[in-house]
Amino acid sequence: MKSVRHYLQFSDLTPDEYHHLFERTKVLKRRQGAGELHRPLVGKVMSMVFEKHSTRTRASFEAGMAQLGGHAMFLDTKSSQMGRGEPVEDTARVLSRMSDIIMIRTFEQRQVERLAAHSRVPVINGLTNEYHPCQILADIFTYVERHGSIKGKTVAWIGDGNNVCRTWLQAARVLGFKLKVASPLGYELKALDGHHYGSELLELTQDPARAASGADIVTTDVFTSMGYEAEQAARREAFAGYQVTAELMRHAKPDALFMHCLPAHRGEEVAAEVIDGPQSVVWDEAENRMHAQKALIEFLLLGHRED
Ligand code: CP
Ligand code: NVA
Repeated sequence: MKSVRHYLQFSDLTPDEYHHLFERTKVLKRRQGAGELHRPLVGKVMSMVFEKHSTRTRASFEAGMAQLGGHAMFLDTKSSQMGRGEPVEDTARVLSRMSDIIMIRTFEQRQVERLAAHSRVPVINGLTNEYHPCQILADIFTYVERHGSIKGKTVAWIGDGNNVCRTWLQAARVLGFKLKVASPLGYELKALDGHHYGSELLELTQDPARAASGADIVTTDVFTSMGYEAEQAARREAFAGYQVTAELMRHAKPDALFMHCLPAHRGEEVAAEVIDGPQSVVWDEAENRMHAQKALIEFLLLGHRED
């Protein structure tokens, strides 16, 4: 099987490749805004496999493929044979004969790895229980387009040490910034990639104010991620005190950005005045999913493009 590049974790790309992607995202975003057509993927097809709900991931990949001149094909567990037990390896073999690239949102990271191992075409992780690399790609672009390089900056994560948080941690190592995570007991961040994260890259605490102190970005996510709904009541109790409030934002730098991957629950993990306030960049993050993923798809299919 010919070797192809996949995007299964944030650590799959190098700092130079991220530098290229951020520059390319700026170009593609500007072109889209100016109404210029850019269609290098005419005749190309993306398979999008969803085993969990989505608004942004589906919409951004589907719109992005259309803008690049290609097509995106939606499959979900309910209406496909994956929901009736067809092995992911067989799904990979079939879809990669009909499409040029596959995006999957599923439960275990292992599923994505099995899909990639049996795919002839690039596979993109559109969220697993463990990681959400496309989100952090877009979030860091959102920082970069406003303030330049994220190297040496500080990101504060308030709440669950979940898939999005774990992806921030990988990004901290690849791009050289500090992550401070405040989580309640039992919901701490655990790295799964075997790397040692020294105190210059990662600080864990139970105190949200300590994590937010001096941060350039303050970010959070839902108390209960998809797949963990049975724990909802216990989580609501455990996460009391972990809301990003205007008071908490005052511990960060005065020009700190507030980020949230969305969907959000106002009054739970974030106060309405923060997410709807002047430091919030959540709508840019959502829009940038589309621009950054267009650059990623182009890179995986066509390599570095300067045109
Ligand atoms: N942020 C994000 O991935 O949103 P969706 O779950 O709507 O795709
Ligand atoms: N951590 C959340 C992110 C949703 C985009 C989840 O996995 O449900």
